[in-house]
Amino acid sequence: MRLAPLLLPLLTTSCFGCGDPGGHIDDRDHPKLKAFPSQFLWGTATASYQIEGGLHGSDWYQWESTPSNVTNAHADDGDHSYDLFDADSEAAQSIGNNTMRLGIDWSRLFPTAASFPQSPDPAAVKHYHDVFASLKKRGLQPMVTLYHWALPIWLQDLTKLTETSGWLDDGMPNKFALFAAWAGKEYGGEVDLWCTLNEPVVNLAAGYFNGVHPPRRSFGDPGGVDMAVQRAMNAARNMVLAHGKSYEALHSSDTVDSDGDGQGAEVGIAFNMPSFQAYKSDDPALQKQHDDATRRLRYISNQAFQDAVTKGNLDYDLDEKLDGPKDKIGDPSLKDHIDWMGLNYYSIVQVATLGKSSVGPITGLPRTGHLDTDHPKTEYSWDVYPEGLRESLDALRPYGKPIYITENGLADSTDAQRPRYLADHLYVLQKAIADGIDVRGYYYWSLIDNFEWQAGYCPRFGLFAIDYQDPKRTRIARPSAKSVYQKIIAEKGVDPSLFKQFPSYPEPTLNCPGGG
Ligand code: BGC
Repeated sequence: MRLAPLLLPLLTTSCFGCGDPGGHIDDRDHPKLKAFPSQFLWGTATASYQIEGGLHGSDWYQWESTPSNVTNAHADDGDHSYDLFDADSEAAQSIGNNTMRLGIDWSRLFPTAASFPQSPDPAAVKHYHDVFASLKKRGLQPMVTLYHWALPIWLQDLTKLTETSGWLDDGMPNKFALFAAWAGKEYGGEVDLWCTLNEPVVNLAAGYFNGVHPPRRSFGDPGGVDMAVQRAMNAARNMVLAHGKSYEALHSSDTVDSDGDGQGAEVGIAFNMPSFQAYKSDDPALQKQHDDATRRLRYISNQAFQDAVTKGNLDYDLDEKLDGPKDKIGDPSLKDHIDWMGLNYYSIVQVATLGKSSVGPITGLPRTGHLDTDHPKTEYSWDVYPEGLRESLDALRPYGKPIYITENGLADSTDAQRPRYLADHLYVLQKAIADGIDVRGYYYWSLIDNFEWQAGYCPRFGLFAIDYQDPKRTRIARPSAKSVYQKIIAEKGVDPSLFKQFPSYPEPTLNCPGGG
């Protein structure tokens, strides 16, 4: 189906309220803003599969070993962080960070079904203790992601997919909770901030609709659209339930306060919440359809999962109504099952109605890259739209939970746009905090260039560049890491001189495929 690849952008990134965002960054020439709070967490984010290498027990290893899959890039050729984790900590410390978001990998810790959950691999267990010791030595508090898109092959074997593989298995919530309980017990003395799931909606779209990530299901599979939608809904429900159960498991198993704030486990999810905007039409009837489709996609991406883990309202069929046989209202196993909300914010999604070709609850065709907007574009063809960060923060605010920006960044191999990008987004953030939004930390994506999933090594998101021809994989600070990010951290605010120093976003000179 031609439709399928076009749905990925929904879930990679996205505008509501586009146009004038209310002057959020209009007054940046004279920001007499309160400084960022002194206990604010400043960091970067990474994911196990994207940096470690050697994860041959993972479904992503099977994925990248299949020659037909988009690029010939291999995570083993990447950052070698399994061996170089101390260099990563050193790099983060060198730019004044006090935290780092990173993953622990389920397949490394439990290589076989038989090993789970009683007999983890001792070398792997020690490895992550060594990683946390390295972070501690350098004054970096860990935020640990349990699931950032890679599953052990014994849970999802891409060569033998069945209707109960991976997240389609109704036993997954319990299995994930066992993994969380184990992690909380083993590493609770070193970790307080736990992120159960990374961008569940992106993961579902890429894996179950577009077929560009494991388990490579799509609308084109036998069973067509109906089957694809059914699978995605089941997988989504299992992810929500997995979060609920792992929230309880982490609170039971990690009661040690390792960061001195009086609490043990503090558990959240990293939500991708793009800015959604409808395509424009001169025809009022068509415009209404674009607007309705946009509202639906914004709901699916930016609200449904969030409502489930705060209000306990599970909208199984994602129709914006809680009246279906599998929907739940105020479910006690989900309600208030989140301590903080993570926001991954990158860009805009534009939505056009699908008309009569609607796909289950999806009534609009979302696009992320190559939009006909006048915003600057990055090397990954995503729009730069800092105001959208405020829109997403405003959407999270009513939930009343502390917020962490768990990812924000851009692909920029020459570091031409990154200085201004950092200044603009951190200014929006500083203003949001001054306006009373409870944001506790910011994690730039990413610390180092890394394996960018189906796009391989073209998009360069790192504050530190990696030369993949260099056997030592030296972490080389890009200028903005120091002259902008470190400066803002040190000064606890965005100095207006940065906007004069970096007045614009130069045109990108590289166009990486895969950005939508
Ligand atoms: C994901 C990362 C990814 C980044 C840039 C986020 O959606 O969490 O894994 O590398 O976007 O594409």
